Amino acid sequence: MHDFKYRGRKLCCERLDLASIAERVGTPFYCYSQKSLLDHFNKLKRAFRSISPLICFSMKANSNLAVLKLLTRQGAGLDVVSGGELYKARRVGVPARRIVYASVGKTEAEIVYALKEDILLFNVESVPELELIQRLARRLKKRPRVSVRLNVEVDPRTHRYIATGVSTSKFGLDLKSARGLFLNSRHYVPAELVGVHIHIGSQITSGSPYAQALRRVASFVKDLKKRGVHIPWLNVGGGLGIIYHDERPQTAHAFARRVLPLLKTLPARLIMEPGRFIAGPSGVLVTRVTTVKKTPRKTFIIVDGGMSDLLRPSLYGAYHSIWPVRRSSNGPRVECDVVGPICESGDFLARDRKLALPGSGDLLSVLGAGAYGFVMASNYNSRPRPPEVLVNGSRMYVVRRRETYRDLVRGESIPAYLREAGSGKREA
Ligand code: LLP
Repeated sequence: MHDFKYRGRKLCCERLDLASIAERVGTPFYCYSQKSLLDHFNKLKRAFRSISPLICFSMKANSNLAVLKLLTRQGAGLDVVSGGELYKARRVGVPARRIVYASVGKTEAEIVYALKEDILLFNVESVPELELIQRLARRLKKRPRVSVRLNVEVDPRTHRYIATGVSTSKFGLDLKSARGLFLNSRHYVPAELVGVHIHIGSQITSGSPYAQALRRVASFVKDLKKRGVHIPWLNVGGGLGIIYHDERPQTAHAFARRVLPLLKTLPARLIMEPGRFIAGPSGVLVTRVTTVKKTPRKTFIIVDGGMSDLLRPSLYGAYHSIWPVRRSSNGPRVECDVVGPICESGDFLARDRKLALPGSGDLLSVLGAGAYGFVMASNYNSRPRPPEVLVNGSRMYVVRRRETYRDLVRGESIPAYLREAGSGKREA
């Protein structure tokens, strides 16, 4: 998070004071550092330079068009999980041959869309899905390339909601079934089975679950090779952890050192799907204190951003550091909850956190909010979603404007019979 730091007392994104952005766009708002986004992308790229992988940014983490454009201009591909993401990917002009598509529940319409776009790879999660892709491809006269997502049954030691490669999870195919698919791949023509895919979970801080997973993949691939089945693509998914609190995640280099020797034994081109690693440390949510409320038991800092803006604390109990946008001289730290205005007890950004007590009107910055922040925002409580700002040096760009009240009713309509005067009475 080195691109968010204090200059004097002011917390800045690159060379721009966050308070000055608040003056321009109001609060709450998301702010991303261009430098940090690029630095993190390049860190991975450099660490794996010796095998030049295709790095498909996992756009579920942050799908703002400006962010996507920035990364794809640097050579990134995109990992999409829905028709909507595919649409946004195409909107930024990323070549279809740099798009991979994973999801356990691709609909017919979504598959048709991706077939027509001729994306690089479908990451397939089940046999019925593969059969559906085959049927639709025949109809459209396409020859889709398919990766089979393996469930390698590795515990990634992360939050259970974001562990995906354990035996009870809905993702991927067990190794035995997957092996059967490859050995009978001619049954799935015109689909071509050309890759294996894994994604064992998210926010993984150590290299060992990856190494364990890759060892299983390696023996899977080698066994098939012996039987004459060559697999030219290997997609290792995303999942690299970042620092939210006191985690000590592996660096890109340490990760590469750990897995490269194994990867080099496999004759496959590597794909990676990092999301959080690139976007997480590159964004903050800035929110303004509405009131400080003291009850006999607790102190609440009530802010204008809540779970509708940043859901991670409520959904996963996730920890996000909170820093004052203007650092004051060392006042005492008080244990408090930082909560939003939403009518839910689960609406909090931090719990039992020791903070220098702010006053109403002060700005707070919630760190590590660049991934799974805005993308998980909602209009709950009819709250317009916040704007997103991209900072490049000392310049700022509003890359998504704040929603208006009018946006809240866009697409809604009242049936004519309800609009008629007195209709309520007639129905009663
Ligand atoms: N590839 C696949 C197939 C995935 O399912 C995911 C994330 C990624 C790549 C990217 O993972 P990353 O590098 O960002 O860890 N909302 C949760 C995270 C859910 C992740 C879902 N899959 C959170 O806020 O922590």
